[in-house]
Amino acid sequence: MDVVIYPGSFDPVTNGHRDIIDRASKVFPKVIVSVLDNPRKAPMFTREERVEMLKLVVKDYPNVEVDSFQGLLVDYAKKKNSKVILKGLRPMGDFEFEFQMAITNRQLDPELETLFMATTNRYSYISSSVVKEVALFGGDISELVPPEIYEFVKKKIVNV
Ligand code: PNS
Repeated sequence: MDVVIYPGSFDPVTNGHRDIIDRASKVFPKVIVSVLDNPRKAPMFTREERVEMLKLVVKDYPNVEVDSFQGLLVDYAKKKNSKVILKGLRPMGDFEFEFQMAITNRQLDPELETLFMATTNRYSYISSSVVKEVALFGGDISELVPPEIYEFVKKKIVNV
């Protein structure tokens, strides 16, 4: 189990994501944080911006790499020679959808395992949607996003 993939939209990366990345980097030899580039979705931040923000957040982690992917996660995992997908699990509402995705991915590739890491309690309420909502209406997001990307997010929201 050399490489684990931590996939997501990261629109934008939050303190919850950062916490999972930090803990994963201590458990797995190599972590690839990969941004879904979905042409059918309209994210607030471009793929390039989301990758840039993640790179700022993981700059001090030598075993964490940032990448992006299109298409099926199982195909991407194969391309990266990874047999493990990592997902963060929050106590409110994540379970059903994550379970469905894990089973779908296993049906598509029985060799690929999905592992779940429970979020740290103090970050369990945070989501990218909450960050965008609070920032759009002028609220303080300093507790919600890593300090490295705070200005990046504020600037983007002002320009929306
Ligand atoms: O941060 P998100 O939006 O919850 O991440 C969802 C993500 C990117 C992990 C998921 O949408 C995904 O894996 N998409 C790739 C397409 C795919 O493989 N779909 C089949 C599994 S349902």
